[in-house]
Amino acid sequence: MNNEFNYSVVILGSTSGIVRATAHAYAEAGYALVLAARDDEENKILAADIRVRYGVTCHALHFDGADAASHPKFVTDCEAALGTNPTGLILGFGYMAEQEKAQRDVTEVQAMVDVNLTGAISILERFAAVFEERGSGFMGVLSSVAGERGKQSNYIYGATKAGLTCYLEGLRVRLFKANVTVTTIQPGFVDTKMTYGLPLPGPLVATPEQAGRAIFKAVSKGQDEAYVLFFWRYIMLIIKAIPRWQFKKMSM
Ligand SMILES: NC(=O)c1ccc[n+]([C@@H]2O[C@H](COP(=O)([O-])OP(=O)(O)OC[C@H]3O[C@@H](n4cnc5c(N)ncnc54)[C@H](OP(=O)(O)O)[C@@H]3O)[C@@H](O)[C@H]2O)c1
Repeated sequence: MNNEFNYSVVILGSTSGIVRATAHAYAEAGYALVLAARDDEENKILAADIRVRYGVTCHALHFDGADAASHPKFVTDCEAALGTNPTGLILGFGYMAEQEKAQRDVTEVQAMVDVNLTGAISILERFAAVFEERGSGFMGVLSSVAGERGKQSNYIYGATKAGLTCYLEGLRVRLFKANVTVTTIQPGFVDTKMTYGLPLPGPLVATPEQAGRAIFKAVSKGQDEAYVLFFWRYIMLIIKAIPRWQFKKMSM
């Protein structure tokens, strides 16, 4: 490991567009990394690329967010790979089914709950216990503005992210006493495979690189909450202020 203070971070969902860019921001700052994803081939390529570009330690470990039974072993695998428990954690894996498909097919609803809520809570609780016992650490977790108000276009995915945001609020209060920060990231629209083909308004869309830099900055400062592009905070304030009688007539 080549960073002066031996900082390290576990990056969950490293094949995601946003998370990949976040991993680069951590590597650039000299952190040792564990990249964790389902796609082992892709993950190994990402880790090799980071080692070559930044000269940092970067391990590729298999991780399935929906397989909660495997999470305790994953935590010990991270410790074995790094030689110590990580300084912090970034959680970016997530699944967004098509809204209309989820309305018809409950297996799509279950898949979103398993990944975005049950899986996230399962792995966060494992690392929360480690960081709490040590009395230090950071967690940056990608939720969504979709969880701030239910919209007809994606309220089922939004419901899973609302649950995650609520969970993080409570986890933050618990871990504050143990000197562990919890940052809820609300990315807004980011140009990734998750949003590919959706009719998004160009000026409101961030690049994955913008998102990666913003996440690194917000988590490093220990912010409670962060939007990738600052104006999303105001957009969401306006959306949340629309009275229900009017919101019902809108087609968002
Ligand atoms: N893009 C946006 O506008 C936007 C907005 C708000 C919030 N977000 C959130 O930001 C996060 C990253 O999304 P993204 O935009 O970067 O999309 P993305 O490129 O589609 O990434 C989603 C990632 O989640 C991983 N994943 C899904 N199920 C998993 C599981 N069971 N175990 C482990 N990994 C799993 C995927 O892995 P595979 O490659 O194996 O499928 C993929 O790497 C997500 O939590 C998303 O909800 C994105």
